[in-house]
Amino acid sequence: MWGTPAVKEIELAETLVEDIRGLDQVRFTSTGTEAVMSAIRLARAFTGRSLVVKFEGAYHGHSDGMLVKAGSGASTVGTQDSLGVPPGVVNDVVSLPYNDVTILEDTLAKIGDQVACVLAEPIVGNMGIVPPRPGYLERMKELAHDAGSLLIFDEVITAYRFHYGSAGSWLGVIPDLYALGKAIGGGLPQGAYGGRHDVMQYVSPLGGMFQAGTLAGNPLSAVAGLATLDVLRQENPYERMDRLATVLAENILDIARNFGHAVSINRVGSAFTVFFQEGAVYDYDDAKKSDATLFAKFHRLMLEQGIYLAPSRFEAWFISAAHSARDIDRTLEACRKSFRQLKPN
Ligand SMILES: Cc1ncc(COP(=O)(O)O)c(C=O)c1O
Repeated sequence: MWGTPAVKEIELAETLVEDIRGLDQVRFTSTGTEAVMSAIRLARAFTGRSLVVKFEGAYHGHSDGMLVKAGSGASTVGTQDSLGVPPGVVNDVVSLPYNDVTILEDTLAKIGDQVACVLAEPIVGNMGIVPPRPGYLERMKELAHDAGSLLIFDEVITAYRFHYGSAGSWLGVIPDLYALGKAIGGGLPQGAYGGRHDVMQYVSPLGGMFQAGTLAGNPLSAVAGLATLDVLRQENPYERMDRLATVLAENILDIARNFGHAVSINRVGSAFTVFFQEGAVYDYDDAKKSDATLFAKFHRLMLEQGIYLAPSRFEAWFISAAHSARDIDRTLEACRKSFRQLKPN
């Protein structure tokens, strides 16, 4: 490992900047956690403010502030507010219900002049898949800017998941800063953050906001990321992945209902979540109604048939480019057996 920029790192940076609207410049980190953490630090440096507004049940990695009312694994195992996070850090984070324009308006009307950034996943992946209501992201951006703060999209999951590029580009709402991870490392450690040119000027050595990492942008991760993006660009598997996800999700719904189980499914493209409850899911309060015990039983039944689902009622089912129609059939067969055997609590 040679701790200096590598040719492949620059190639990956140029690829990301070309693919993602609003990503004028980009810096690498080793994880998604660091990408979000650094983007927040940058927003604070740019605005000279401290507060971060984020959304309940979202997961933005495990930096201290992001563990205030966190989703995904943190909420699954009951450590939504992790021990070890100092009160000073907690005081600088405001968590609001997702998809509620009025609460966001009211909050920013009161404390907007102290807010460095509004941080959101444009399509939430960590309280289950929860898409934004129509107009919600547009209004979020408007309100953030009216308050003089920045909009950060955490696209660690969403970038390159629904189409080739960011979900922000896909949905037509371009944030001031992005946090990226997962796909851009092709299975190796990789994160990145970046966005508006004038904001990125604050990053050291040009500006006074420091961020570094021995392995950030290392050539091995850069090559893996480039290779993955190359396959996605060449093969464009998105339509096929969407089709497989549609077949899987629609059939799961039918099967569950045929066996008398109340489930609802939120699906966006190739990602969906089966909630063990009947109502629609727009925020974390809705998502929490999904029956944890029933999910756990279902998970066990699926595992016994060789299907390993993500081990949380708040996680998504992701169809990958490697999945085939046969995999979907096999999964549906297992679902049929599982829902047949699933006993209500
Ligand atoms: C939306 C989102 N942000 C940030 C992270 C943190 O990324 P990492 O686990 O690479 O630190 C995750 C991880 O699951 C995530 O889903």
